[in-house]
Amino acid sequence: MQIQQALSHASSHLNQSESPRLDAEILLAHALGKSREFLVTWPEIDLSESEQHTFLHLLGQRALGQPIAYLLGKKAFWDFDLTVNSDVLIPRPETELLVELALEHLDTSKHLLADLGTGSGAIALALAKERPEWQLVATDSSEAALKVAKLNAENLRLDNIELRQGSWCEALKGGKNSENSNEKYDAIISNPPYIDKTDVHLSQGDVRFEPVQALVAEEQGLADLRQIATQVLEKLKPDAILMLEHGYQQAEAVRQLLEQSGYNDIQTHKDLAGLERVTMARR
Ligand SMILES: C[S@@+](CC[C@H](N)C(=O)[O-])C[C@H]1O[C@@H](n2cnc3c(N)ncnc32)[C@H](O)[C@@H]1O
Repeated sequence: MQIQQALSHASSHLNQSESPRLDAEILLAHALGKSREFLVTWPEIDLSESEQHTFLHLLGQRALGQPIAYLLGKKAFWDFDLTVNSDVLIPRPETELLVELALEHLDTSKHLLADLGTGSGAIALALAKERPEWQLVATDSSEAALKVAKLNAENLRLDNIELRQGSWCEALKGGKNSENSNEKYDAIISNPPYIDKTDVHLSQGDVRFEPVQALVAEEQGLADLRQIATQVLEKLKPDAILMLEHGYQQAEAVRQLLEQSGYNDIQTHKDLAGLERVTMARR
């Protein structure tokens, strides 16, 4: 089978996908260990038997709906690639807004930050990489997710990040860098689960294959946002920042719960699509 034949065979098998040709090119390039440009330049090259086998396997999985990121085992975030598997949420481009806002609102002096529900480590790793002088505590309740985050920290050779397991603030009760359980943070950041369990999007596209505990929260998706907002207050230094990603229709509810919890200076920021995506507040 030649490259051009493999691509046209694949495109017709991926008719459920929104971008069959692109998916086919990405999977074939991955199976061959080449770039997509290589496929365009050399359409008449024959695939070896093992390349063909690998490609047809990937194609079959994609036709069943498996996300491209899980099939490749990686996803681009910020300015690096993260290893991902089905134990972690596939990092979304809109989550980079949390990284941008943290860089904008904190100076470059030594700071202690936490990323609650770190998943693959996306947010904490981007911040640890951008600001070697900051110390990051990245937490998750999922041991399997923390394994992925650890691998990513090692791949990026970052040592200003500490991983801790526990439910929201439980994990902030003290770790190897804290002298006691009273450590206070300059900023706490989180992209928690915020989708309502009846949301139709849960049965569509990539989301079907992502861990449910990374996506779904009780109380119309607000339960974890509420828990974090109330629990972290005592973990923040005076005037320190809490930054939460939320659904684009949840901004008003999140502002209200931050106000009720006693935060000041509450502001919502829009993502590149113009949707209210991140709400910030100060203790
Ligand atoms: C929406 S994902 C975000 C992952 C990553 N921060 C990102 O932005 O790509 C939410 C994460 O919160 C974690 N999580 C869910 N419930 C939790 C809890 N009670 N305590 C700590 N982490 C939790 C999930 O395991 C998941 O990794």
